[in-house]
Amino acid sequence: MAKILVTGGTGYIGSHTVIELIKAGYEPIIVDNLCNSKELVLDRIKEISGVRPKFYKVDVCDENKMREIFKNEKFNDIIHFAGLKSVAESVKYPELYQSNNIGSSKVLLKLMKEFGVHNIVFSSSATVYGTPKKVPLKEDDPVGGCTNPYGQTKLDIECLLKDYAKENKDANIAILRYFNPIGAHKSGLIGEDPQGIPNNLMPYVTQVAVGKREKLSVFGDDYNTPDGTCIRDYIHVVDLAKGHLAALNKLKEKPGLVIYNLGTGKGTSVLELVHAFESANNIKIPFEIAGRRPGDVPENYADVSKANKELHWKAEFNIEDSCRDSWNWQKKNPKGYEE
Ligand code: NAD
Ligand code: WQD
Repeated sequence: MAKILVTGGTGYIGSHTVIELIKAGYEPIIVDNLCNSKELVLDRIKEISGVRPKFYKVDVCDENKMREIFKNEKFNDIIHFAGLKSVAESVKYPELYQSNNIGSSKVLLKLMKEFGVHNIVFSSSATVYGTPKKVPLKEDDPVGGCTNPYGQTKLDIECLLKDYAKENKDANIAILRYFNPIGAHKSGLIGEDPQGIPNNLMPYVTQVAVGKREKLSVFGDDYNTPDGTCIRDYIHVVDLAKGHLAALNKLKEKPGLVIYNLGTGKGTSVLELVHAFESANNIKIPFEIAGRRPGDVPENYADVSKANKELHWKAEFNIEDSCRDSWNWQKKNPKGYEE
């Protein structure tokens, strides 16, 4: 069985990807400092897959501890999910975001070189496109003009990876730019578990549905879009997870550095998502129209033709499926992962 290092593997996207990796015959070695996830996730992974992955509670920024893991585990592939991801928090603590997100990536690159590990898949984000001039977004559209320090860390790491690939001709790097991940594993055993008040739309909606929050605030209905609310590309997290398997397969072709958008290619407005959730689950979501949220772009969705063609990968779930699975997770775990 091929060992693979999965940083951030107890997190939302990481845990779903670990399931797919196990299914595909990999042996995931998870490193996570649990700053935004719980160890209980490992038991849930076992319930779903039959395997409790090997786990190190380690900060990826800790070079010495990471060196020991590289020495002991001897893997050929890495998926690097570990990172802080709150836009609002990054505005408050930009240095923390820089040191954690960029720092952890630098440690991995240093150790990859030291140990001759060539393959890495990196979690980037559609946020690197800043405010798009046109949609759908293609991988070679301009990046930059990030509206927050979190987004800037993703762009900075992309640059680090590009420089590394130039210097190290045997490196194979897949930069995956995720659009908006939602949904959960169909078992309802793993899902998104934000701490405190959710920043993102879907966990807020599910917390309203479960009665934890009174109503949703829709941030702005005066955008230049058909119903006035912002448009995003919501992708089911299991589709996203499968995209990582497709990217790993691509790396076996030794492509050097490759970049792919992972989305559905379809835009959905905030109100459309709310209505899809209501009809998929037969639940009313009370909402009010509130002011615009600073930094939001009106419209953002992916051109996924490159990933479809080169990765032989395509998102299979639609927005109703995602709404159903998000709700299934929330209703089975009204308080998230409670230990
Ligand atoms: P998450 O917070 O659920 O998972 C990230 C995991 O990384 C957490 O378990 C956290 O404890 C861990 N972590 C953070 N810093 C660490 C460090 N220094 N050392 C070890 N572990 C550390 O987030 P997610 O939604 O699963 O996102 C995974 C990755 O995808 C992140 O890099 C995120 O920036 C990126 N991404 C997420 C989204 C999204 O909307 N969820 C969109 C685009 C990109
Ligand atoms: C979606 C839409 C909000 C909450 C963020 C990051 C991005 C990426 C994905 C990591 C927007 C509206 C939201 C609410 C609302 N993450 N909304 N009421 O902002 O597209 O992307 O997550 O890389 O970098 O910026 O996602 O889910 O926060 O918002 O009306 O309570 O829902 O205004 O139009 P976003 P989101």
